[in-house]
Amino acid sequence: MRANVRVGIVLLTLGAFAYSCKDEGDEPTVAPPAGPISFASHVQPIFSGNCTGCHSAGGSAPFSLEAGVSRGNIVNVQATSSCTSEKRVNPGNSGSSVLYKKISGTSCGTRMPRGGSPLSQTSIDIVKNWIDEGAADN
Ligand code: HEC
Repeated sequence: MRANVRVGIVLLTLGAFAYSCKDEGDEPTVAPPAGPISFASHVQPIFSGNCTGCHSAGGSAPFSLEAGVSRGNIVNVQATSSCTSEKRVNPGNSGSSVLYKKISGTSCGTRMPRGGSPLSQTSIDIVKNWIDEGAADN
């Protein structure tokens, strides 16, 4: 009995240790699925973790990427950057979406997140696939 309790404590400690060693940074909180990307489960956490310091109501950036309003502020919305006449998100076409251009390189001005390290390739691919799959509200 006592030995079982001790084993239990060791396992709990190991579990807590493994959890505390979880990667920090911009990795999405949920791994990308094999199937379709979910906006709420996969895309929004990337915005909330990396963008809303500036892209929030009253923030320094021109529009909010906060949960609840982000999608409405980007899908089929004309970009304001002077380098383009494209939309922030053109559903089905990441190649003509300023959001994708801004996180994947400097083809349209400053790379986002502005002043920070680029998003991981996984996060960039999640956003790209979400746009290419039609930028659904799912
Ligand atoms: C440190 C502040 C800051 C952070 C963090 C930041 N942005 Fe920005 N963002 C800005 C500012 C300021 C602008 C407007 C000037 C510009 O386009 O460079 C902008 C512009 C943009 C634009 C262009 C919009 C348009 O209409 O032309 C997109 C898209 C964008 N940001 C996406 C993101 C995403 C996605 C993230 C997170 C991965 C992010 N930003 C993080 C400050 C920030």
